[in-house]
Amino acid sequence: MERTFLMLKPDAVQRGLSGEIISRFEKKGFKLAALKLLQVGRNLAEEHYKEHKGKVFFEPTVRYIMSSPVIAMVWEGKNVISLAREMMGATNPANAGPGSIRGSYAMDISRNIIHGSDSVESAEREISLYFHPEEVLTYKKAGEEWLSE
Ligand code: PPS
Repeated sequence: MERTFLMLKPDAVQRGLSGEIISRFEKKGFKLAALKLLQVGRNLAEEHYKEHKGKVFFEPTVRYIMSSPVIAMVWEGKNVISLAREMMGATNPANAGPGSIRGSYAMDISRNIIHGSDSVESAEREISLYFHPEEVLTYKKAGEEWLSE
């Protein structure tokens, strides 16, 4: 089963949107495998966004995720990487569909409330940045037989 890394950014936590956003992934049928509230330090922030080092938005993006606690999560399910990104909407909330998470709750790319891995490789990398292997749990969830064959 596929896993992805999702992070509720500081604005989502500060604006009291965490429960609402987590609820969307629960209702979709995905399974929560790990979750923690943490304050991201500079080393972790720079490592997370290292592929963007040198771009104009690198430093503001690093400062943004360091600015207040975030909620780091691992979610599991069929095609969860691409489906979670569709649920999130476009990176720039100005282009995000109205029913998507960013389309519903955000308006500017500098405060786009959620991060989601964009590939299997980045999911594995990001999960290992934020969680020890034993923190990512495997368990049977009630009702799984009603989600897919
Ligand atoms: S790109 O344009 O292909 O390099 O962007 P992408 O791979 O989607 O992710 C870029 C991350 O930086 C955040 N960010 C911005 N991106 C583009 N332009 C601007 N101005 C900008 N400001 C911030 C963007 O939200 C992506 O972070 P995540 O955490 O994935 O949302």
